[in-house]
Amino acid sequence: MKDFDIYKFKEILKTKYLGKDLIYFNNVASTNDEAFKIAKENASNGTIILAETQTSGRGRGSKKWLSPYGGLWFSIIIKPKISPLKISLITLLSGLCVAETIKGMLNLDANIKWPNDVLIDNLKVAGILCESEIIKNIIKYLVIGIGVNLNLDEEDLKSLDVKATSCKIELQNEVNREEFLANLLQNLENYYDKMLVPSELKLMLNKIRKIIIPIGHDVEIKTEHEKFSGFAFNLADDGSLLVRIDKKVKAFTSSNIEYIRIKK
Ligand code: BTN
Repeated sequence: MKDFDIYKFKEILKTKYLGKDLIYFNNVASTNDEAFKIAKENASNGTIILAETQTSGRGRGSKKWLSPYGGLWFSIIIKPKISPLKISLITLLSGLCVAETIKGMLNLDANIKWPNDVLIDNLKVAGILCESEIIKNIIKYLVIGIGVNLNLDEEDLKSLDVKATSCKIELQNEVNREEFLANLLQNLENYYDKMLVPSELKLMLNKIRKIIIPIGHDVEIKTEHEKFSGFAFNLADDGSLLVRIDKKVKAFTSSNIEYIRIKK
């Protein structure tokens, strides 16, 4: 496998702003941390920070994110003109874009597992970690960290406690990282721009509803202080998960759940 080829990537990329500025690291603690540093120094909207490996890659709930060579580990800095309440929608839309890029480019079916995972055959292939700087209820910048197990081997994944896979394992072939990232960024740019138009957002939410897990299942959800059991039946328009618990409906937002499990 070769290092990420920035020149080749720039030749393929056809976006208006996403990825036009790319900061490349061989190794870094976490691209999200680097993105925060760079955002503070007034980075342009759509700047990407990409690293071949991360030593302290982070997942949701301060979990460690394994980031060996061969994956696609990057963070996007955007300055969206949306309410902080809509950040969870950005996480879901990013998951949709990853799933659609996997389907469009590799012809593999992928699902979104609410709120921030992408799965192939129930095995985790990607995760999204959105973090933000909010001042007086206005998003100063949003860092969208995306990790895709692109060209990892079985060997790389065996230390994980979640069931995971990579695109290379599923495809039995290496994936062109530059082309994958360029396609993914194009999809992301289209969706981020369109989410401001209510009718377009509705269409995107319906696409998400078609591939999201665990709708249609009995689930156990743990929040900071409580555990709930119920039936997950829909995704609300704000991205929260609607769960029927003892004949009442409770909406869970991604920010206040510790975990969600499908009950067997
Ligand atoms: C999750 O599934 O819990 C989210 C994983 C997000 C991982 C990516 S890799 C690039 C960026 N940098 C990080 O430290 N985390 C995100």
